[in-house]
Amino acid sequence: MVARPARGEDVLLAMRFDILTLFPGFFVGPFSTSILGRAIAAGLIEIGVHDIREHAAGRHRVCDDYPYGGGAGMVMKPEPIFACAEAVLAQDARRGPIVLLTPSGRLFTQQVARELARHERLLLICGHYEGVDERVREHLATDAISIGDYVLSGGEPAAVVIVDAVARLVPGVLAPGSLEEESHSGGLLEYPQYTRPAIFRGWAVPDILLSGHHAAVARWRRERALERTAALRPDLLARAELTPEERRWLAERQARADAAEASETAPPTGAVPRNEQG
Ligand code: ADE
Repeated sequence: MVARPARGEDVLLAMRFDILTLFPGFFVGPFSTSILGRAIAAGLIEIGVHDIREHAAGRHRVCDDYPYGGGAGMVMKPEPIFACAEAVLAQDARRGPIVLLTPSGRLFTQQVARELARHERLLLICGHYEGVDERVREHLATDAISIGDYVLSGGEPAAVVIVDAVARLVPGVLAPGSLEEESHSGGLLEYPQYTRPAIFRGWAVPDILLSGHHAAVARWRRERALERTAALRPDLLARAELTPEERRWLAERQARADAAEASETAPPTGAVPRNEQG
C-alpha cells in the first residue's frame, strides 16, 4: 500500500474514497454539504459511490441468499461484492485499505482515522441484511471496522462517519491550525466553547474568557477539559498526555469530591446507625 506524504510536505494530494453499497441514494445528502462538499469541490477528496447490485448476475440481480446452516435473515452474496470491488479498483491505480463495515469489526477511533488518512485511497464495503458472506472478509477486505457497540441496519451510516472523520485529516480540508489545536488536547474531551452574546437569557460566558489573559484562558480551558474527561470518560485519562501536576490536580479534585460525598451520606453526628439500634 502506498502511504501519503506526511502533513507538512508541500504536495497536496487528493484522497479517493470508494463506497460499495446496495443503497447509493443514501449518500446524496451527506456528501454534498458542508466541509465534505467543499473538499470535493476543491478537488481535495474524491468520493465514488458504487451500486453493488449493478454487478449482480441475472435478470433479478439478486444480492442476497439464505444462510447455510439455517437461521433467520439473509446473507449478502460474495460474487456481486467481489465483482464490484474489482471493477472499482480497476478504475484507478491508487491502492489502500479495503474495509468491511460490520458491528464485528475493530472499533473506529481517532487513532484509526489517522491511520486510514495516511493512504491515498480507501474502499469501504457496506454490509446489509443479517451479514455478509465471510469470504468477503477473508479474501477481499484487508480490515473490518465497527463504528460503535450497537447494530445499525447497514454499513452506510458507518461509511459516512468514517469518510467524514478521515477526510477532515486530509491536508487542506480544514482551516489551517484546526488540527493542531485538536491534537494539543492530548486525548482529552474538548473544553466548553462560547461565542457572542456574552449574556444569553441571563446565562453569562465565564469572565475569564473575556479577560484577554491568554495564559489564564489556556489554563481554564485545560482544567475544564480535564474535569469533563474525568467526569464523563475516565477511561481516556489513562492514555491522555497529562503532566505530573495535572495528574496531581485531578487526584486532589477527586479526593475532595469523595470527601464531600462521604459527608453527605454520613449520618448526622450523634445518630446511631440503624443496625446498631436496640
Ligand atoms: N453495520 C451494522 N452495524 C455497524 C456498526 N456498528 N459499525 C459498522 N458497520 C455496521
